Amino acid sequence: MRERLSKVLAAHGVASRRGAEALIESGRVRVNGQIAVIGQKIDVESDAVEISGRPLRPRPEPITILLHKPRGVVTTLSDEKGRRTVRDVISEIDTRLVPVGRLDLNTEGLLLLTNDGALVHYITHPSHEIEKEYHVWVTGPVDTAKPILARPMTIEGHTVKSLRVALVERREDGGVLALVIHEGRHHQVRLMCEQAGLTVKRLVRVRLGFLTLQGVPYGKWRKLTPPEIKKLKQ
Ligand code: URA
Repeated sequence: MRERLSKVLAAHGVASRRGAEALIESGRVRVNGQIAVIGQKIDVESDAVEISGRPLRPRPEPITILLHKPRGVVTTLSDEKGRRTVRDVISEIDTRLVPVGRLDLNTEGLLLLTNDGALVHYITHPSHEIEKEYHVWVTGPVDTAKPILARPMTIEGHTVKSLRVALVERREDGGVLALVIHEGRHHQVRLMCEQAGLTVKRLVRVRLGFLTLQGVPYGKWRKLTPPEIKKLKQ
């Protein structure tokens, strides 16, 4: 089967698609001894690919992990500002995994990371409508905010709505809300709560579809099992 070289390099964990193109452009990639060019397609079965004179390592096993992301960690693989990234948290894994979607710097909770491109596509595609549940520690008028959060709202020009909103704990100055949404717009839960007159103190994603944080302590991770991956792709 013929595939784009940059896609093959990314699938083998060499770099991102863009990083692989830069590598090709630098002239460090050869196919059957010839310097590769951008846009080139190769036969993964029979063509010999070398990077800086070294043969391309075998395609890694697909792996997907569920991370209990701590607060103050950036959902990227490298950060220009030198902040701690999700890659630092899972540094014991030597395969290049990409985050599926993202959580804000100060959001905690369930984040998947994978090298399975099909899974990324499946989970992030809006048509699959996977539920995301958040627990939000807020201060402010929770009783008036609840019906506002339950109705469609306009956030930065887009209509969004929560599928369910519940007050799971009442506190003197606010409480803890459980909010379920389908979409995953940038800062969506924070913006929705702000628009409803609340101040967000802490935000935790506690569920993605049927996956929860159960058994995964703060800052730790576990591998998804083959049946879980199968179920996610259904
Ligand atoms: N909504 C937010 O506001 N932030 C997140 O990190 C996730 C959802």
